[in-house]
Amino acid sequence: MQVLIPSDEIQQRVRAMAHEIHRDHPDGVHLVAVLKGAFVFLSDLARALPGRCSLDFMAVSSYGTSTKSSGQVQLLKDLESTLEGRDVVIVEDIVDTGLTLKYMQNILRARSPRHLRTACLLSKPSRRLVDVKVDYVGFEIEDRFVVGYGLDFGEQYRNLPYIAVLDGSPKPS
Ligand code: IMP
Repeated sequence: MQVLIPSDEIQQRVRAMAHEIHRDHPDGVHLVAVLKGAFVFLSDLARALPGRCSLDFMAVSSYGTSTKSSGQVQLLKDLESTLEGRDVVIVEDIVDTGLTLKYMQNILRARSPRHLRTACLLSKPSRRLVDVKVDYVGFEIEDRFVVGYGLDFGEQYRNLPYIAVLDGSPKPS
C-alpha cells in the first residue's frame, strides 16, 4: 500500500473546496452525493461548509470489473427530494472515464435545478472518454487505481483516512 495523498492534505483541500462552493452558493446549497464512494468526502465537505446545506443520496452501479468501468450505469437508488429551482452540487468520489458523472448530470439536469454543479475529490484526466464538466476538483491524479477515503477495491479499504495505490493492483487499460 503506497500512500498517494495523506489525510492532512485531503482535509486541507476539502476545506478549501467547501469555501469555493460557499462562495458560489452564498444562500445555501443542496448536495447530492453518489453512493457509496462519496460518503466520506460528503461527510467532511458538508461539515466544512460555512452556509446552509441540505443533503440527498443517489446510488449507481457502474458495470465492469472491480478496477475497470464498462460505461454502463444503473440507477440503484433515486433521490428523495425534488431539484426544481434549487442550487444543486453533485458530490462524487472520482471521475475516471467520466461516463458515470455524465449519466448523473444528464438525469439531474432534466429535473430543472436552478444551477447544477459538480464537486469531485479526484480526477484522472488521462482516462476521460467523454467530455464532462467538473466545477470543483480536489486533486488530479495519474492513471492509477486508488483506494481509501471512500474508494474501494472489492468493497475493502473505504475506511482508510488517506488515498493509496494498491501494490500490485492492475493498472486500468
Ligand atoms: P467513471 O469511469 O468515471 O464512470 O467512474 C466510475 C466509477 O468507477 C467511479 O465513481 C468510482 O466508483 C469507480 N472508480 C474509478 N476509478 C477508480 C479508482 O481508481 N478507485 C476506485 N474506484 C474507482
